[in-house]
Amino acid sequence: MARTVPRYAHEGVLQPAVDRYVNQVLPRRDPILAEMERLAKRENIPIIGPACGRLLALAVEVSGAKRIFEMGSAIGYSALWMARAARRGAKIHYTDSDPRNIARARAFLRRAGVGSRVEMHLGDALDVLYDTPGAFDLIFIDVDKDQYPAALKLALGKLRRGGLLVADNVLWYGRAARPAKRGDAFTRGIQLFNRKIYADKNLFSVIVPLRDGVAICVKKN
Ligand SMILES: C[S@@+](CC[C@H](N)C(=O)[O-])C[C@H]1O[C@@H](n2cnc3c(N)ncnc32)[C@H](O)[C@@H]1O
Repeated sequence: MARTVPRYAHEGVLQPAVDRYVNQVLPRRDPILAEMERLAKRENIPIIGPACGRLLALAVEVSGAKRIFEMGSAIGYSALWMARAARRGAKIHYTDSDPRNIARARAFLRRAGVGSRVEMHLGDALDVLYDTPGAFDLIFIDVDKDQYPAALKLALGKLRRGGLLVADNVLWYGRAARPAKRGDAFTRGIQLFNRKIYADKNLFSVIVPLRDGVAICVKKN
């Protein structure tokens, strides 16, 4: 029977051989990112992986984003990619509802030398974003997938004009492309999110089918 749940976090919607190639051709990571990747694989923690990490870092670098908010940060892997790509004076807001994740992330980020540019928040990412004043240059959505439509609505109100909204897992291991099964709130959440980012006249959006699909949207007004 076909597997429906990815075996580890780097697997996505590409043909398996292409997926392997995309990951094999990447430069080696430094010891801290590599250690995080091994931990994620061992414990099946769904990090964005190195190919999407580079995409996220590219988005931060070319946009010059300094005020960055991440919704759903786990062990801090994507936060580390962003923190390294961001310019001097940047601040990345980390959020996760799991105290074990935040403790591990704090240790990794400190060891990587970026602890001072990451503000750690334990709690619901939507509540934290709602309560954090000021506009953001980039908001990255990676919470539970049924929360994506609500996260999008909130994030759009918190993003500056010209700011970037990035979201992971928008193809949801291919399930986004098929009718959602009854009770599959995650697939429905992703499908609604994708319709909304293309329907919104204030956004210019693209879905990049890398790994599990990454949406990148610029807020025009
Ligand atoms: C896909 S993982 C994040 C991976 C991370 N962005 C990375 O690539 O390194 C999702 C994380 O979001 C957390 N999470 C899910 N829904 C949340 C919410 N509403 N508020 C805070 N954390 C949430 C989970 O505990 C989990 O650690």
